[in-house]
Amino acid sequence: MSKIGLNIDIAAQYLSNGEVVAIPTETVYGLAANALNPKAVVKIFDIKERPSFDPLIIHTDSPEKALLWVKEIPAPLQLLMDKFCPGPITFLLPKRDIIPDIVTSGLKRVAIRFPSHTMTNALLEKLDYPLAAPSANPFGYISPTTAAHVDQQLGAKIPYILDGGSCSVGIESTIVGMEGDKVIIYRKGGMSIEKIEEVVGEVEVRSHSSSNPASPGMLKSHYAPKAKVLIGEIDALTEEHKSKKIAVLSFKKKYSNFSNIVLSAGGDLAEAASRLFGALRELDALNVEIIVTEKLPEEGLGRAINDRLARASA
Ligand code: TXA
Ligand code: MG
Repeated sequence: MSKIGLNIDIAAQYLSNGEVVAIPTETVYGLAANALNPKAVVKIFDIKERPSFDPLIIHTDSPEKALLWVKEIPAPLQLLMDKFCPGPITFLLPKRDIIPDIVTSGLKRVAIRFPSHTMTNALLEKLDYPLAAPSANPFGYISPTTAAHVDQQLGAKIPYILDGGSCSVGIESTIVGMEGDKVIIYRKGGMSIEKIEEVVGEVEVRSHSSSNPASPGMLKSHYAPKAKVLIGEIDALTEEHKSKKIAVLSFKKKYSNFSNIVLSAGGDLAEAASRLFGALRELDALNVEIIVTEKLPEEGLGRAINDRLARASA
């Protein structure tokens, strides 16, 4: 049986013993293990039923520690780190040999991030190894943004869930790296592209990527609820499928004729992002056949939200 708790020392003890523990971050909950212990890392893949060609992000509490595990930090990425870390951004950097191949699926770069969550940062400060952690959901399902979400799906398989409340950002980190002297975005996420471009100038976005060998995990179908997800004009779609059991996930407008969750009545994209995964889970739990939803404005966090909705519907 799993334990949900607030005890950082218990979490640290399990991790140091090679066990897997769920940890809160500002983006989503992670399923963490000692990244330097291949046997512990393998357990993550088993618990998530995740294919081993999908590499993991390592988490630590300070950019100074990062240099123990990566060879160098190119200047533009250093600027982003100085400006945004801790925060919802992940860096692809040349790995040192100490990082096991199982973490990177044999790739030469390792993904590293500095999460912004008081509890997890206190935990990371105690550890002399980084934590490898994918989102704490079964592979292909919606990412968890509360300890209860983790418990529902993986609770029976792990000894401890560190409860840090609801994730404030609610959508995974933005993944950045460099090719030559160009900054590339490999996954849209909790740090908006606009903010990144304010620091490093124009970037290339390459996050739709069955053709993207640098990010093998960015599969087209992901974040998928049991219900079919349809994206478009809500009135037209609900009319077209009126014989089916439908729920509506809308941005600002209320749809009283259906089971409906409004992501942000005030039209705030950050609020919408923080509620997205919880809302998808809640609607999916109603056992509807179809979740009808709409595209959000393609700006700021709206871009990451649209990306997740597209994957949920694929
Ligand atoms: O916000 C987040 O990033 C959360 C929290 C827990 O930190 N983590 C997360 O991990 O979203 P995960 O495993 O669900 O997604 C990580 C993605 C993978 O899809 C993978 O393709 C990409 O990061 N990735 C990891 N290491 C990589 C590498 N060495 N090269 C290219 N892509 C990598
Ligand atoms: Mg994930």
